[in-house]
Amino acid sequence: MKNETSQKKVRAFAPATVANVGCGFDVLGFAIHELGDFVTASLSEKPGIRIISISGDDGRLPLETEKNTAGLAAIALLKEAGKSDLGVELTIEKNMPLGSGLGSSAASSVASVVAVNHLIGSPFSKSELLPFSVDGELAASGTAHADNVAAALFGGFILVKTHLPPDVLSLQTPEKLHCTIIHPKIEIQTKNSRKILKKQVSLEKAVTQWGNVGSLIVGLYTDDYDLIGRSLHDEIIEPVRSMLIPGFKEMKSAALKAGALGCSISGSGPSLFALSTSEILAQKIGSSMGSVLDGIDLEYDLHVSKVNTEGAAVVGEL
Ligand code: HSE
Repeated sequence: MKNETSQKKVRAFAPATVANVGCGFDVLGFAIHELGDFVTASLSEKPGIRIISISGDDGRLPLETEKNTAGLAAIALLKEAGKSDLGVELTIEKNMPLGSGLGSSAASSVASVVAVNHLIGSPFSKSELLPFSVDGELAASGTAHADNVAAALFGGFILVKTHLPPDVLSLQTPEKLHCTIIHPKIEIQTKNSRKILKKQVSLEKAVTQWGNVGSLIVGLYTDDYDLIGRSLHDEIIEPVRSMLIPGFKEMKSAALKAGALGCSISGSGPSLFALSTSEILAQKIGSSMGSVLDGIDLEYDLHVSKVNTEGAAVVGEL
């Protein structure tokens, strides 16, 4: 923890993220571009943290600091910095859908700690900010999984070695990798989609799964796109959660047929992600997946992005 000059007002951005990456339930994730949240933190004379406004959530997120992931993460940070009495006002701009499986709560809590940290003179390094955001995630989903928050904070691909305390490793991102996201317009709460998971896993499935996690990581480090594709299989979580997503099987086959390296559920769903090696392919994959949802009259959003290797950042200050 160090101390530098502080600002009066700081705006930060944290990106949307794809957690699990198929085989790596709760341990793998990566960040994408454009979608994400902005949080502005301003110094105020009145002690304590207040959330002044939230936009882009249709009035659904709590303004009470202690019930909001961004608020909770900021409380944890100021407490650790010994500045709990400081007056801070937060403005949250959500620039991504809620309950979509794209790490919406993580984006808010990460943007919040990045903004507040800068506001008070950056006493904490990026890595030191992680536990505060995990606190926010605990409030949102009832579990302290760090995959979305770590990917949003650091960018690129990450591996969560342990969650509490968070021990996170940044992985390599192959240059050509592109991601297609399709977000069917239904909502799935992470809390609920965790409840339906089986608590026991057969040894056979576990062996397959950790084989895939290991080979996916080798694929990332060797730019071996074929190996990445062969590793994007989830024997444990996808078969259960995919039942909540209309057209899942058909969308996945459409993506693979259109040239995707692999395709699975993004985080806890309902969004799906597919990886490919060019923007043209990524767009084509998106259209093919979209045709499936057109056929069942389900609205959706499509998004194509390279992997965001920068992660959260301060985007403005006064
Ligand atoms: N790893 C978490 C899960 C991410 O799959 O439940 C939630 O977005």
